[in-house]
Amino acid sequence: MTPAASAAVHEGFRRIHGGDPDGVWAAPGRVNLIGEHTDYNDGFALPMALPQAAVLAVRRRTDGLLRLHSAQGDGLTTELRVADLAPGRTAGWTRYPAGVVWALRERGLPVGGADLHLDSSVPTGAGLSSSAALECAVAVAYDELYGLGLSGPELARVAQHAENAYAGVPCGVMDQMASVCCTGGHALHLDSRSLEVRQVPLDLTGHGLRLLVLDTRVRHDLADGAYAALRAGCERAAGLLGLPALRDLPGAELPAALVRLPADLVPLVRHVVTENARVERAVERLAAGVPEALGPLLTEGHASLRDDYRVSCAETDLAVEAAVAAGALGARMTGGGFGGSVIALVPAGEAAAVGRAVTDAFAAAGFGAPAVLEAVPSAGARRIA
Ligand code: GLA
Repeated sequence: MTPAASAAVHEGFRRIHGGDPDGVWAAPGRVNLIGEHTDYNDGFALPMALPQAAVLAVRRRTDGLLRLHSAQGDGLTTELRVADLAPGRTAGWTRYPAGVVWALRERGLPVGGADLHLDSSVPTGAGLSSSAALECAVAVAYDELYGLGLSGPELARVAQHAENAYAGVPCGVMDQMASVCCTGGHALHLDSRSLEVRQVPLDLTGHGLRLLVLDTRVRHDLADGAYAALRAGCERAAGLLGLPALRDLPGAELPAALVRLPADLVPLVRHVVTENARVERAVERLAAGVPEALGPLLTEGHASLRDDYRVSCAETDLAVEAAVAAGALGARMTGGGFGGSVIALVPAGEAAAVGRAVTDAFAAAGFGAPAVLEAVPSAGARRIA
């Protein structure tokens, strides 16, 4: 996060709210390297934070009002009474900050109002966790301003509860854990059951690699029912197998388990169990100092998401295909799917050619132009001014 970004948000706050904020906080978006649709199955994931972040200038208020303004919004300031916050009563982007304040109060924490000014560089609807970034920025700011002393995993749980119960999106905990707990230069090995994390060094540039984010610009909406249906299918399968969660099904028992399940649940379970194993293999390869060996795991993971979990779409499939054909070591969709972004691990010298090849393939297929960003493993949520 550059000092210029922080100064711009401070200045925006002065213009909108008058006077200075008590501080400026930032929380990043993320890409997930591997471990997709495993978090709500109590499984494993390996996300890393992006340099793109939600930056928030905040000043505590004593009159119980929450006044929200966004540089990406419609220019209006939304004013809410903290005591009146309730799920379903808040619309648009303001559900996320309002939801966090509501979720903190649900925990019995004595938090009140604030003036907030947001400026976020995380693209929305791109599968890069713009909503988690915003929630986590509010959570860390409130933690400090109201002296709550919550741990990283507790802040992530509050943010997830806001998204589940207030915004009505039945997501798992990965995005919020990534936004709070990631550190620069590392991927985060996450156990979604215990919320234990391990920082895994990820030196891409030192190995002559780059990680591209190819945003297909196909916008998804996790609240639209498909995500909830997949989640319910996994829970049904775990119930039928007599397990607390699919995380508890060891790979060696997969073939025997699959014959006991109805046909519609077989591919879901196969994806979740093989994907958890791919996370472990990815962590081993990073520990062995061969990040380039992640490539084949990424492509294998994409095939599983496309053929078994069925959350890819024509645009993400084409981005993966074109990237690999142009020299990427591996590529896969990242995040919930149904559009959003693809990550591609590429030798540094091939990065421009891979970006161009995907753009050309989209043009030839009649798709709109993708946006190409670079993912650099960055810091998690923190105070920046
Ligand atoms: C979305 C959700 C996450 C996770 C991913 C899929 O990003 O918010 O909790 O389930 O999809 O891995």
